Amino acid sequence: MFYEEGLIEEVRSRNDIVDVINGYVSLKKRGNSFVACCPFHHEKTPSFNVSRERQMYHCFGCGVGGNVFTFIMEHENLSFPEAVQMLAERAGVKLPEQGRPEEDRRQADIRMRIKEMNRMAAGYFHYLLKTDHGRTAMEYLKKRGLTDETIRQFGLGYSDKYRDDLYRHLRNKGCRDEELKLSGLIRYDEKQGASDQFWNRVMFPIIDVNNRVIGFGGRVMGDGKPKYINTQDTPVFDKSRNLYGLNLAKKSRREGIIFCEGYMDVISMHQAGFDNAVASLGTALTVGQVNLVKRYAEQVYLAYDSDDAGTKAALRALEIMKEFELPARVISLKPYKDPDELIQAEGREEMEKRIRDAVSGIMFEIGILASKHDQRDPQERTAFQREAAEKLSGIEDPLERGNYVTSVAEQYGIREEILREAVTRYGLAGTGRRVSAPAPRESGSGESRETKERRQLKAERLLITWMIRENALFDKLEGILTEDDFYEPVYHEIVSGLFAQYREEGRVEPAAIMDRFQSREEHEVVSGIMQQEFDMEITPEEKSKAVTDLVRSIRMKSIQHQLELAQGDLEKTGRLMLDKAGIGRLKIVFG
Ligand code: CTP
Ligand code: MN
Repeated sequence: MFYEEGLIEEVRSRNDIVDVINGYVSLKKRGNSFVACCPFHHEKTPSFNVSRERQMYHCFGCGVGGNVFTFIMEHENLSFPEAVQMLAERAGVKLPEQGRPEEDRRQADIRMRIKEMNRMAAGYFHYLLKTDHGRTAMEYLKKRGLTDETIRQFGLGYSDKYRDDLYRHLRNKGCRDEELKLSGLIRYDEKQGASDQFWNRVMFPIIDVNNRVIGFGGRVMGDGKPKYINTQDTPVFDKSRNLYGLNLAKKSRREGIIFCEGYMDVISMHQAGFDNAVASLGTALTVGQVNLVKRYAEQVYLAYDSDDAGTKAALRALEIMKEFELPARVISLKPYKDPDELIQAEGREEMEKRIRDAVSGIMFEIGILASKHDQRDPQERTAFQREAAEKLSGIEDPLERGNYVTSVAEQYGIREEILREAVTRYGLAGTGRRVSAPAPRESGSGESRETKERRQLKAERLLITWMIRENALFDKLEGILTEDDFYEPVYHEIVSGLFAQYREEGRVEPAAIMDRFQSREEHEVVSGIMQQEFDMEITPEEKSKAVTDLVRSIRMKSIQHQLELAQGDLEKTGRLMLDKAGIGRLKIVFG
């Protein structure tokens, strides 16, 4: 790691994991640990566990886990060094500046500079809008019904007609060409030199959840093409992980988050009081965006355009929502094209009503199926009912499924018993796209099919769990087994950390082991092991037998492996053969 190890350790120990996580989700004490509904996936019953003793968290539902750094990395979307910094600040630990490698520092500086330049640009565009230069743009926005307050709140602006107006402004403010090149604000051309990316457009600054300007959308005034130009990807602008308006929507008191398609939709919605509206940035909704929203909402609404493209986009968005188990409802805007038009034409009351009447994702999907079939034709009608039944059979919760069957039957005039029977039949046939429950982590039934290797890994993992639970084991393992007997690299690393800790401090501290790993994937693996609990009470005899079996099996595998490597070395082979013969005598005894 980039900081000295002791320092990371200090930052970690000064940030109690329970206190830190409690700042994000409200934890309840249960037994030895704290539980909550997992902030990383949607769930109704808590499977997210935090242990004060171990200073680790783990979700038994989705498998995420780690120590306090991992949590901050995941939740705040930060890199490891950034998470360390944030927690150091929280605990008042001073970090040495020189501890960071140059490159890392340079990248962070560049990102900061781009955000600064973006902020300067946004300020300048906003200023221009209010001058004589921006008069047409201001008239345009006023014509579209925006108030001064809304224009201020969204920081709207105007980019001037001259080809390098912003460039000259930013140069005067001390920005250098190399950094401007990276900002996405300025284009460079061999012949022409520098010119602005945005000319003569109404400007929409795109602001992230931390209130930084990360990019811009620019709209022509009138019917020119292209209608919008957006900042291309830059070191600070990743379209797939940001949403327009989320900086405001995250503070909303309204229920859920409303997804729209356009900038103007979001602005109109906010102005009408629906301050929980956001828009994806001119692309189809991405997994990263839904993941982001899940931190702020338990329910989403789709207010997509009512044309074919909007409907398709909504169906796709619904698929992603399902994947994330985020309940979604669809708002009908007909006969208007988009939320902005509906509000302009009918006002906020009507929008409020449309939100109230929003239909659940599945009813929307069934509505689309219905519209594709002529309901007067018996054959077509049967085809529709079949598709609807198939869809309904995919709902896992039987109560919810029953309710939808009733609603669909009523709405489409199908006899309820018949629909119910069809749904059951499809469910049994397994044709429904049933979301399968996550496979149990320790499935006994698959044991026979497990390859030897997997059984070996399992033995290694279980022994680590024991080592963490029973520190007395370290003395007992002396001279019998070392980290080098662990085959899997991650396990090897964990065990060598545990041995080192025990040797130096006489006890183990699992969360500190985590600092040896840097990737989220590794953190998940490690936290999974460390949070494993044995529920049952177990006698010392049973314990001795369980651990002895594990030690023998790990040792056996290790010796076999060494034997393969020692081919030709007779002396070594002889020694290993003796060791192997002695395995049966190995015994770990708990008193
Ligand atoms: N968009 C884009 N580039 C385009 C067209 C659209 O990036 N050439 C994105 C913008 O984010 C836009 C959204 O797609 O806000 C929706 O497009 P559209 O419905 O065409 O525009 P509106 O937002 O409705 O804009 P307006 O009401 O001003 O026509
Ligand atoms: Mn529009």
